[in-house]
Amino acid sequence: MAFVKHTAGVVLTTLALSATTSAAPSAVDSCAKFAGQQYAAPSDALACLKSFPFNETLRQNVLTNVARVFDFFTFEEYYTSSPAPFQESTTNIRENLARINSTNYATDYDFNKDLYDFTNQLNDGHTRWFPDCYTTFQNLLPAPITTLEEDGVQSIFVAPDSAEFVSLLGTSYTSYFDGIGFDFKRLAGAKVLSIEGQDPYVYADYIAKTASGNYLDHGIRVNSVFSSYRISGGDFSQRFGDLAGPSFPDKDSLTMSLLLVNSTTPETVKVPYLASYVGADFTDQASFWQANCVANSNTNGKDQKTVSGKRVPKRPKASIIDKVANGVALPSPFHPRLPQIDGSSGVIKSYILPDNTTGVIFVGSFSPAVSAYYDFQTDVATAVNQFKAAGVTRLLVDLTNNGGGYVCLGQFLHKYLSGSTVGYPGFVTTNRANPLAQKIVAADIKLGVSSEISFYAPASWAFLNDTVQSVDYNYNNPSLPFTVNGVEDPTSQRFHETCSNDFVVDIPEQPPFDLSNVAIVGNGNCASTCALFSTLMFERHQTKIAIFGGKPGEKIEFKGMAGNQVLEWADLDSEIKTAEVKNDVLAPPDLLVSGNMRVNWRTAWSYLDENVPIAYLSGQPQFQFAYTRDTYNDPQNLWTFAASKLFA
Ligand SMILES: *[C@@H]1O[C@H](CO)[C@@H](O)[C@H](O)[C@H]1NC(C)=O
Ligand SMILES: *[C@@H]1O[C@H](CO)[C@@H](O)[C@H](O)[C@H]1NC(C)=O
Ligand SMILES: *[C@@H]1O[C@H](CO)[C@@H](O)[C@H](O)[C@H]1NC(C)=O
Ligand SMILES: *[C@@H]1O[C@H](CO)[C@@H](O)[C@H](O)[C@H]1NC(C)=O
Ligand SMILES: *[C@@H]1O[C@H](CO)[C@@H](O)[C@H](O)[C@H]1NC(C)=O
Repeated sequence: MAFVKHTAGVVLTTLALSATTSAAPSAVDSCAKFAGQQYAAPSDALACLKSFPFNETLRQNVLTNVARVFDFFTFEEYYTSSPAPFQESTTNIRENLARINSTNYATDYDFNKDLYDFTNQLNDGHTRWFPDCYTTFQNLLPAPITTLEEDGVQSIFVAPDSAEFVSLLGTSYTSYFDGIGFDFKRLAGAKVLSIEGQDPYVYADYIAKTASGNYLDHGIRVNSVFSSYRISGGDFSQRFGDLAGPSFPDKDSLTMSLLLVNSTTPETVKVPYLASYVGADFTDQASFWQANCVANSNTNGKDQKTVSGKRVPKRPKASIIDKVANGVALPSPFHPRLPQIDGSSGVIKSYILPDNTTGVIFVGSFSPAVSAYYDFQTDVATAVNQFKAAGVTRLLVDLTNNGGGYVCLGQFLHKYLSGSTVGYPGFVTTNRANPLAQKIVAADIKLGVSSEISFYAPASWAFLNDTVQSVDYNYNNPSLPFTVNGVEDPTSQRFHETCSNDFVVDIPEQPPFDLSNVAIVGNGNCASTCALFSTLMFERHQTKIAIFGGKPGEKIEFKGMAGNQVLEWADLDSEIKTAEVKNDVLAPPDLLVSGNMRVNWRTAWSYLDENVPIAYLSGQPQFQFAYTRDTYNDPQNLWTFAASKLFA
């Protein structure tokens, strides 16, 4: 299951000699050098990315787009003083945009990288700039790391399974290391004494702060740095982690001081990175730009009134984009040995532990394929029915590395486990009442835009009594006053979602398991819809949650990032165009480049305090456990351990 993107079988040993082959003048094509190859030396990859000159027209286009999309960002005003424990994200968004507007950049890459870094460090995976041109690589280090406890002490190690895991990338990756005589397999399981001359946890903090993004909580980002198991592409997979698998090919190597297995003498090893190409096919610099960097037919939105033919149902989503989520398998010895029960063919895998009383449902994501949307619901019911038939009385829900997905599937799972008497299964929600949003809603009402094609259309949402809003009910004007960090930031009226209308499986009246016998495990990398689900369970049923990993002695939140709905730039633009307000001076221009400024468009207000977005409500799990050699990559071992601790 190593990833295959481009013509396999190309021998890459020539890359090691790259430095000697670029004798031609600088006009020589710096992208052609590795065209058609799956891997490139990071310096070659970076030379290609930096070969496109800075262009003021493109900066103004992108920055104008980004600045106007930020008008829709529900959490903008929180950033000037992010509440504890999220202070690390504090920044002034508009000052950053002004700074990026007046900085001199040598290349288009430098401009985009600065904008990427600024939005990435907002640590809201829903609200970021992705320049498709420059997210075309994943830089892969054959020494992924993890934090493990041994004899009561936690330390950082090269992942003990890294020889098998890295080999799953295939010979087009490993032959490069063979060619330069670098034996990465001997590093597996080595204790890491320092990275780039720093304490390894200090270095992990640095990556968490500067590269990981996505999650407001620093502790959760520390877990993103490490390698961990997950479900991806419908099967067990292992993530490289943000130290060993970052997006940008801007490091050639990493120097680590290591204590190899069975050795007592530290050794300093300079571990080379090799960059994996994940972009579109190209042959030279010009075609690289054409294939990856120029706006295409999907970059910007469309007036949905003019789109004909069968359309994908419009369903709210909340998820992160893990650009560096190459689908490398989890080595097979670490897959669960237990038989999977029925209903496990998609993003959910379910098992009964050997104690015969604990059922496990590993919800790898809330993003099934569109065609499997309802299968998610039937799979939950199938698993629960088998658990009941087998006499299972306790349920463990694994949310490790669940990047979110369809908002209503999170609400479905919450409602199914809670029983129908729980009532409305979601959060009270709002969007921002900025002037353009108000013009969109007014125009949708005037034009009679259907809720089938617009999220802004009033009938997409329900009143707080769960009656669907009438087509002419303007819920965004008048707005509701709200003040954040001393700034007035009005919202729409408060409303409910209408998920229950899309549940095809009957909800049991009573919870299928006593809710005190339901527990959640994970690594905190639980994004968006996953965070909505775990927060619902935590707020409404005080569900026990155990988070593994993190930095020893540091607190970690149980949820990563909990906006209520994300709009990709093309989605927001479709709303604008469908409402026919694209000519408004406040409307973001179409992008000239291929990219995506996505935005958190709705707030979920806490059930416990309806003036606090759940994103900013600190929630610490009742249990925090260290990973061990037995559990960090072995879900079955982790579930067995968790069941013994959580249901004791
Ligand atoms: C800058 O980009 C614009 C839009 O793609 C293009 O028309 C223009 O020729 C570019 N300028 C230069 C100097 O290349
Ligand atoms: C960038 O600054 C220039 C000069 O002040 C200004 O004309 C332009 O509108 C600014 N661009 C954006 C996107 O704010
Ligand atoms: C380390 O030592 C143990 C015990 O002698 C041995 O079983 C194991 O194979 C050794 N591992 C390595 C990587 O040398
Ligand atoms: C669980 O059930 C299996 C199959 O019925 C049985 O063989 C096993 O002994 C049971 N285990 C326990 C701990 O009761
Ligand atoms: C639900 O609330 C709306 C708005 O307050 C109200 O107009 C409507 O009559 C209510 N519907 C029911 C069935 O109570």
